[in-house]
Amino acid sequence: MEEDKGTVCVTGGTGFIASWLIMWLLEHGYSVRTTVRPDPEKKRDLSFLTNLPGASEKLQFFTADLSDPDSFEAALEGCNGVLLVAMPIDYEGKETEEAVTQRAINGTLGILKACSKSKTVKRVVYTSSIGAVMFNGKKIDAMDESFWSDVDYIRKTYTFVGFGTYMISKTSTERAALQFAEENGLDLVTVLPSLVVGPFICPTVPGSVSTILAMVLGNKEQYPLLLNSHMVHVDDVARAHIFLLEYPEAEGRGLEALLRPKNHFLDCLDKIKEVAVEAHLQEVSV
Ligand SMILES: NC(=O)c1ccc[n+]([C@@H]2O[C@H](COP(=O)([O-])OP(=O)(O)OC[C@H]3O[C@@H](n4cnc5c(N)ncnc54)[C@H](OP(=O)(O)O)[C@@H]3O)[C@@H](O)[C@H]2O)c1
Repeated sequence: MEEDKGTVCVTGGTGFIASWLIMWLLEHGYSVRTTVRPDPEKKRDLSFLTNLPGASEKLQFFTADLSDPDSFEAALEGCNGVLLVAMPIDYEGKETEEAVTQRAINGTLGILKACSKSKTVKRVVYTSSIGAVMFNGKKIDAMDESFWSDVDYIRKTYTFVGFGTYMISKTSTERAALQFAEENGLDLVTVLPSLVVGPFICPTVPGSVSTILAMVLGNKEQYPLLLNSHMVHVDDVARAHIFLLEYPEAEGRGLEALLRPKNHFLDCLDKIKEVAVEAHLQEVSV
């Protein structure tokens, strides 16, 4: 464990990426304040976080919900950096696009306002997505962070439940966050990960990991997502967030390193077959 590097707030500590980030931050000498959603019946098992090395001394929990933007203020107190990771992900489309997007924007702006008022927060990193970059109908192979998804195009084109809503809410929230930062002189950078894969410490299989295992798990409705998936390892995502916290010269949007050349799923098929055979699963066919 390294020397104390200051205090960082990670929102949505129970999630796949946030819990991995908390583990990394503790290992690399940071103190961490994380937010979880209110659990009045105290049914939630957070031992995957409280048992992390260093957690008993350096990890603190706060309750907060994006539906109540002011609820994050206590968690931010005294923090030097903020990793804004929490986000409702509802591929089943239980709520309307407007409700999901409005909550994401209001919650995020609420946190950014509190960061602006804070005397200690030096850098905020917002976890966006390539969903805010590449869904624009442009027929080109390579896109970098200068590209934006087109909300109207997504609405017309991606009609399967929940997916379009998620991409629209990520695009609109990132735009609103960058605009707020610019207008208020807040030091905000955004990270644009593709489909995040790799090991996890949270208790349930993360959505993106389950997507990548769709062929092994037989989830045929997710096959179309695989055919156009770009992937990034969760360790690389954690490194990118921590690099952005520590490197004051970084500014604006994205990290090119995460937008790797198209990693077409069929290129990985041989490896997947190998793994499936090793695991004595039924033959995988496409
Ligand atoms: N995984 C990927 O492939 C991927 C790719 C690109 C970008 N991202 C972005 O990375 C971030 C984390 O993704 P993830 O895969 O780690 O997702 P995840 O495992 O589903 O975690 C989401 C986190 O957000 C919290 N959350 C949900 N609704 C909330 C609300 N109303 N108020 C406060 N917290 C709330 C969840 O809390 P509960 O546990 O209480 O539900 C959970 O802790 C998201 O912003 C996502 O858009 C992910």
